[in-house]
Amino acid sequence: MNLQLTDSVAVIVGGASGIGLAIGKAFADEGAAVVLADRSAAVAERAGELAQSTRTRTAGRMVDVVDYEGMRRLADSVVSEFGRADHIVYAAGMGSGKFGFPFWNLSPSDWPRILEVNLVGAVNTAHAFAPHLTAARRGTVLMISSVAAQIGSQTDPPYSAAKAALLNFTHCAAKDFAAYDVRVNAICPGMVQTPLNRGVWQAWHDSQPPDTRRSYEDWAGEKVRKIAPLGRWQTPEDIAAMAVFLASPRANNITGQTLNVDGGQVMHC
Ligand SMILES: NC(=O)c1ccc[n+]([C@@H]2O[C@H](COP(=O)([O-])OP(=O)(O)OC[C@H]3O[C@@H](n4cnc5c(N)ncnc54)[C@H](O)[C@@H]3O)[C@@H](O)[C@H]2O)c1
Repeated sequence: MNLQLTDSVAVIVGGASGIGLAIGKAFADEGAAVVLADRSAAVAERAGELAQSTRTRTAGRMVDVVDYEGMRRLADSVVSEFGRADHIVYAAGMGSGKFGFPFWNLSPSDWPRILEVNLVGAVNTAHAFAPHLTAARRGTVLMISSVAAQIGSQTDPPYSAAKAALLNFTHCAAKDFAAYDVRVNAICPGMVQTPLNRGVWQAWHDSQPPDTRRSYEDWAGEKVRKIAPLGRWQTPEDIAAMAVFLASPRANNITGQTLNVDGGQVMHC
């Protein structure tokens, strides 16, 4: 399927690892230029590898999503260097690193950082790119949320709440950007084997007495089989396939939507 993304420029925030990196590769495979932005120092190397494997133009930029001025500099530099910024993907995210069941296992002081990275970082990103998207009168924004947003996760309540708020902001942004033909959607992945997902298991593992601890593959594998009707893990590439479709003209009447790529874990009418 030709997704007509050649010559466009995609910016993947949280692009140095896992789902974000796979989305960057999917855009590059479609012929788009790709800017990976991340707080990880590995981001430049990942961008270099992507350029080599896909023969497309890439760049890696180190930035912390919580730093709004840094995000503005990112947006301005992409447009001045690449001439445009068409597709903005927010894939940065983090968990609390603690097992949040029941919620009082966490402390209220665990919440602000999680809300900042998973929610305010996305708001910073949207603000930073808004002048460029509205001036161009085209483009897409994609928020990577989570099924946790829709079910009240019993493993990490601040993460779950931040992801729910991100879906609400997706709706606000979709309405406001619509007059500029900029579409805004969200993907909720189910369970994908990445450092972030492993962190959920680690937090559970560390909270258990030694004799009840189980391996990541055993604990999380059983959970996947139980909660997802399709009974299997999602892959970063599953999420990336939906991401490039949503960015493409094939999806030109889709905005303000939440697409679950979760093996059927959450179903709505
Ligand atoms: N893996 C899953 O099962 C799963 C499920 C649902 C949703 N998600 C969401 O998918 C997205 C990608 O996560 P992943 O699973 O690929 O995890 P990951 O840990 O592999 O990637 C997250 C990336 O975000 C970056 N990041 C974190 N804080 C940042 C900050 N302050 N500034 C800039 N970059 C920052 C990290 O450096 C990392 O590269 C996240 O939003 C996550 O919440 C993941």
